[in-house]
Amino acid sequence: MNEDAEIRDSEDKIPIKDFGAREKFRNLSLSSGYNPDDRWIGGYVDYEWGKVRHILDLLVKEKHQTILEFGCNIGATAVVTALLGHSVEAVDIDKFNADMAKLNALQYGVADRVNCHLVKDGERLDFNDGYFDVIICNSVLEYVEYDNFSTVMKELDRLLKPGGLLIITGTSNRLSPKEVHRGRWFINYLPTNLGKIIWGKGRYQRGVNPFRVMHALKHYVNLDLQDNGKLYFEIKKRFGLSAKAMAILKLLKKIFHPLGISVGLLTPSFSVNLRKPQ
Ligand SMILES: C[S@@+](CC[C@H](N)C(=O)[O-])C[C@H]1O[C@@H](n2cnc3c(N)ncnc32)[C@H](O)[C@@H]1O
Repeated sequence: MNEDAEIRDSEDKIPIKDFGAREKFRNLSLSSGYNPDDRWIGGYVDYEWGKVRHILDLLVKEKHQTILEFGCNIGATAVVTALLGHSVEAVDIDKFNADMAKLNALQYGVADRVNCHLVKDGERLDFNDGYFDVIICNSVLEYVEYDNFSTVMKELDRLLKPGGLLIITGTSNRLSPKEVHRGRWFINYLPTNLGKIIWGKGRYQRGVNPFRVMHALKHYVNLDLQDNGKLYFEIKKRFGLSAKAMAILKLLKKIFHPLGISVGLLTPSFSVNLRKPQ
């Protein structure tokens, strides 16, 4: 773990560095109908400091990496990644999110290491092949339009350098009977069109099938299998998972790892850490 992380562990909140940017962040949030004090707005960076930071600490040992945060939302993971000293290109398809991400990076004093881009769903991103050392997809693949999914996976593969790391985490799992984000039972098992009729297009949300992800990236090495779950369980420990949940996951690991399925692919919010071959 880096020194910065150890210092921040003892603090409740990541300190704000630019109060002018904070004011603008709050105002943009309010004018768009969002409560700036909401956990998923003003509290999002602190939340991800307690989550994705541990993954980065454990997996990205090299300093000053060039990292793509795919689907950055208001920039929480991007800010945490930049606070750890990396350079981040943060992309999102939503203008409000991209604007908020810029202000978020400013208010936490990392705007020099975070570039925010507004992009179009399924379109080629304006970076050279193999530009990134690491790509992070934190709670995003389930939001990609179903028909664009394969194109997006190919694009991420194009952008990652050989030997680079692809971190997929916090992703709603279509195998789960209960969809994690909205808490709806069995929505994951319904065909898209039927789900849209029942819940309405805007309110319809379904997970992504982890095996679809793994199929798209079948040439990648699954690091969670390679070390027999050591890294995966260390991350869960740092997330503060209960002893009971850990015991269940360890049992699942015993059953599924010999079948070539890492335990992180089976949880309602799934994760997998992948290495692109050289
Ligand atoms: C839950 S948020 C992601 C949270 C963010 N990764 C973080 O850790 O703070 C999902 C985001 O994915 C974005 N998104 C959906 N499809 C996308 C696509 N094809 N390309 C880029 N962003 C996309 C949405 O606009 C939304 O902001």
